[in-house]
Amino acid sequence: MTRQRVVFGNWKLNGTRAEVDAWAACADEAAAAAADSVLVGVAPPAVWIERVAARVGAARVAAQNISEHARGAHTGELGAAMALEAGADWTLVGHSERRQLYGESDATVAAKVSAAFRAGLGVVLCVGETLEERERDATWAVVRRQIDLALPSPPPSLDRIAIAYEPVWAIGTGRTATPEQAQDVHSQIRGWLRARDMRAAAQVRVIYGGSVNADNATELFACEDVDGALVGGASLDPAQFAAICATAAAAR
Ligand code: 13P
Repeated sequence: MTRQRVVFGNWKLNGTRAEVDAWAACADEAAAAAADSVLVGVAPPAVWIERVAARVGAARVAAQNISEHARGAHTGELGAAMALEAGADWTLVGHSERRQLYGESDATVAAKVSAAFRAGLGVVLCVGETLEERERDATWAVVRRQIDLALPSPPPSLDRIAIAYEPVWAIGTGRTATPEQAQDVHSQIRGWLRARDMRAAAQVRVIYGGSVNADNATELFACEDVDGALVGGASLDPAQFAAICATAAAAR
């Protein structure tokens, strides 16, 4: 079966008001051009979610992170229902920067996934190994543990989950995984899904992140189990982001 591709731009801690207006307009054009073949979305800083959501029609809007708590004494946090009300319909969960810089454990990631589903947000679950883990051949053990502990079984609606494989050593380094390295992990993730649920294996999108750009997108999207991309740096360049979306639309 052909899975609809997914391309999300993760803006991280970037974007003035003027920049996010320009990036949102461009992402929306790219989403409209890709039509049904690609789900295009952007993940702005939380303060811009409502503004971006008001400016896009075809593109989806994701939070970069949500709290595992719904409300209460949690200064600085963003509730899933708040993100939804502000106009997000997806959220990233478990990005390696959250895990590494802000100490998010697998248990916290699992609680955030549950909170997102409870609120009605789609989830892009981010997983991936560090260079040290890859070098001692622990890649699949790490990725499997991260998925195992985060995804409820059986998962809720399958079109509201994407798994983003983002090897930590490829994020923001300009060092992309080769298509073979990406396909290898993606096919293991697909196998993990298949062992639980054939329908999940067929439908859940597994996307790649880590120095994706307009030049390497074609060969990554040619991989059988690479269903799209989570794009960091290149999503801040409207022409490149549009090119990546167009490449996804043309692939397969
Ligand atoms: P880069 O594309 O800048 O490597 O970032 C990837 C990423 O972390 C997307 O979430």
